[in-house]
Amino acid sequence: MNNEQNNEEKNEQNEALNIDNDPSTVVQPRKKTMSEAALAANRANAKKCTGPKTREGKFKSCLNALKHGLYSHNFIIRPWHQAGNVISLREFTNNSFHQHHGIQSTERFGLDTDPDGDGIKNELTRADVTAVTVWQATLQAPGPVIPRDPEIEKAVWNGEQLFERIGCASCHIPRLPLDRRGWIYEEPSPYNPSTNLRKGDAPDLRVDLTSDRLPAPRLKPELANPAVVWVPAYTDFQLHDITTGPEDISAEPLDMNFGTWAVNFGKGNRKFLTKRLWGAANEPPYFHHGLFTTLRESVLAHSGEALATPQAFQALSEYDRNSVIEFLKSLQVLPPGTKSLVVDQPRPWPLAPDANRGVETPRSN
Ligand code: HEC
Repeated sequence: MNNEQNNEEKNEQNEALNIDNDPSTVVQPRKKTMSEAALAANRANAKKCTGPKTREGKFKSCLNALKHGLYSHNFIIRPWHQAGNVISLREFTNNSFHQHHGIQSTERFGLDTDPDGDGIKNELTRADVTAVTVWQATLQAPGPVIPRDPEIEKAVWNGEQLFERIGCASCHIPRLPLDRRGWIYEEPSPYNPSTNLRKGDAPDLRVDLTSDRLPAPRLKPELANPAVVWVPAYTDFQLHDITTGPEDISAEPLDMNFGTWAVNFGKGNRKFLTKRLWGAANEPPYFHHGLFTTLRESVLAHSGEALATPQAFQALSEYDRNSVIEFLKSLQVLPPGTKSLVVDQPRPWPLAPDANRGVETPRSN
């Protein structure tokens, strides 16, 4: 495929994805054609728009958007995509099928259309997308794997405490509370943006993610406070620049938050989501670029906003440094069939106080 075709295609993608609609930041392509199918799909989506229809209404909402953009930009949580620009699992699913597999869903591209011209219409139905999305939402929770070896148990526990003490936990927040029954997963999700199935487009499908009918192990409401499920994801869901600057191996020359034609696309990006660490140990390679193969390499590669923590890590004794790594190694996607959140063998973590390190109460069930 030549470059021009490629750019046209990306441009179509971006229109369909609604990326960067601000004309002031977009360099207009020399020639801009869209297939009839993409046009029809976009028109169909526009009909579902619930935004203001009058001139006055549009002006008012324009001011709202500006205000919102200025004051609340950092408070919109987009937990998916390494650069934090995808808001829901369904959006991710639709994007990935299209961009990675060349499979176009009817909800985004319209019924009975063949947007990529491969001779196949209706490649993915709304039910297909719902099924894949809900499957992802219901996957088992990761949890610590701690061999029953007193030496390793001691190191993991030491590392877990050091992780907090040297400041890693300021970004990799060990656990965040999920309340307001956020564990009842809904599809269509209220967060699905346009060009994805949205609330009201189809009957709601609700799944209780704490249900024992789903594959174990699962996160459960806290015994002491059943209104909260603690999620030990080790992230703050924020973007951070932890590079030394534009020359850093982790600095990206392109900014994927913008469409190919946007000026900012070529300005590069150094802000990425704090990686969730649950499940990190058996999901190498590390960082958004996957260039690091070990956990230690990843820790030492932190700089910029995180500079103080690798420095504090380096200042630890060798035993303490190794303990932090032992702790990170315990955070794993659990083997299929695991019933408990802490393995090997179901057991609470931290261990009871009689076990040599003065721990007070078991934290997890
Ligand atoms: C200022 C926030 C911040 C602090 C403090 C911080 N991190 Fe990170 N960490 C990040 C970000 C952001 C990434 C992802 C970087 C990327 O993808 O380019 C990351 C990635 C990682 C990864 C790679 C995980 C993976 O799956 O790719 C590990 C391991 C990690 N951090 C451990 C630590 C440890 C240990 C400390 C303390 C010594 C620490 N971090 C301190 C923000 C932070």
